[in-house]
Amino acid sequence: MPDALDARVSAALARIRNPRLENDLLSAGMIRDLAVAADGRVSFTFLLAPDDPATLVREARAAVRAVDGVAEVKISVANPAGPARATHGPPGAEPAAAPPAPTSEQLGLGRVLAVSSGKGGVGKSTVSANLAVALAAGGYRVGVMDADVYGPNIPRMLGAFDRPAVNPETHKIQPLEAYGVRLMSLGLLVERDAPAIWRGPIIMKIVQQFLRDVEWGGLDYFIVDLPPGTGDAQLSLVQSTQVAAALIITTPQEVAVGDALRGARMFERVGVPVLGIVENMSGFTDPETGRTFELFSSGGGQRLADEVGVPLLGTIPLQPRLAELADHGRPVIIAEPASPAAVALRAIADVVQARLSERTVAIPIIEN
Ligand SMILES: Nc1ncnc2c1ncn2[C@@H]1O[C@H](COP(=O)(O)OP(=O)(O)O)[C@@H](O)[C@H]1O
Ligand SMILES: [Mg+2]
Repeated sequence: MPDALDARVSAALARIRNPRLENDLLSAGMIRDLAVAADGRVSFTFLLAPDDPATLVREARAAVRAVDGVAEVKISVANPAGPARATHGPPGAEPAAAPPAPTSEQLGLGRVLAVSSGKGGVGKSTVSANLAVALAAGGYRVGVMDADVYGPNIPRMLGAFDRPAVNPETHKIQPLEAYGVRLMSLGLLVERDAPAIWRGPIIMKIVQQFLRDVEWGGLDYFIVDLPPGTGDAQLSLVQSTQVAAALIITTPQEVAVGDALRGARMFERVGVPVLGIVENMSGFTDPETGRTFELFSSGGGQRLADEVGVPLLGTIPLQPRLAELADHGRPVIIAEPASPAAVALRAIADVVQARLSERTVAIPIIEN
């Protein structure tokens, strides 16, 4: 008589070792709320500490899925220490003993979504701006923080360039507003041609200041357009408040998914779940015929999604005139709402909204 399903699932988890603790996942107490249903549906919470390798989650999923009789594996990743915290040290360094960062609720920011990418020029700001506009059009209170000090182009894309005012009573900075979205940009405060070496050290300070000293006025969603890669802005953000999730933008021709993958791993390491991948500039849809052409090598988004173990949340086609419109402060979602890119962006906004409103972000099963 073979062991019961739940015993076999437990055994599979007990065979995976955590290299950091010299222990297996079960004995290390990393698996919580393990539920094995008779019909083969398995769910559990994976307590992943910032210095645990995020690959453990994928390993656990693969091991459980390989158990005979398991039909579905649903894993919620949580940080055992509660709020995510990162350090400024090298990856894997001990978390600094800092006072707890204010929660995003305390800051009135609602759910914080980090938008990131491995490289620049893949459409991070395009997605951030259009996502914000789409959510605002849906009746949500939305803020966008442009933290890309190397290419702060959110103000240009939303056509808001005024120097932010300071409220004389509260001494807080007033965000600008466009298309119902409140926005602040490093580019509005930091000189564009200031040397990078000087800009680097002040990023931390400014990110914190943007979170605390800008009168956001109570938000449902706070979208952060981060610089590409895994630098100071990313770490400052996760140190300064809780980030609900990260979205990684990539392009189809990304052959080496290395940079984007490193970015995803960094978020996972600090306890920020990666919501999914968005592939931008995915082919071209002929407006006359509706036919889609692949212009570059394709599949970069799906490859990255598979590698990270998260869903591909959507693909946005190349859209003629999108760049020109963006340069004139007109997001494609507003300027050409029926265009394929706008339709794709709205669909992505819906998925993101739905997933962010769930309490824990479960990493869904990727069936290959
Ligand atoms: N789907 C698209 N179709 C056409 N042009 C696009 C598309 N997505 C982005 N662009 C343009 O490509 C350039 C880079 O996009 P941007 O969002 O600024 O990238 P990032 O913020 O990642 O550096 C911009 O000029 C933008 O208008
Ligand atoms: Mg940008």
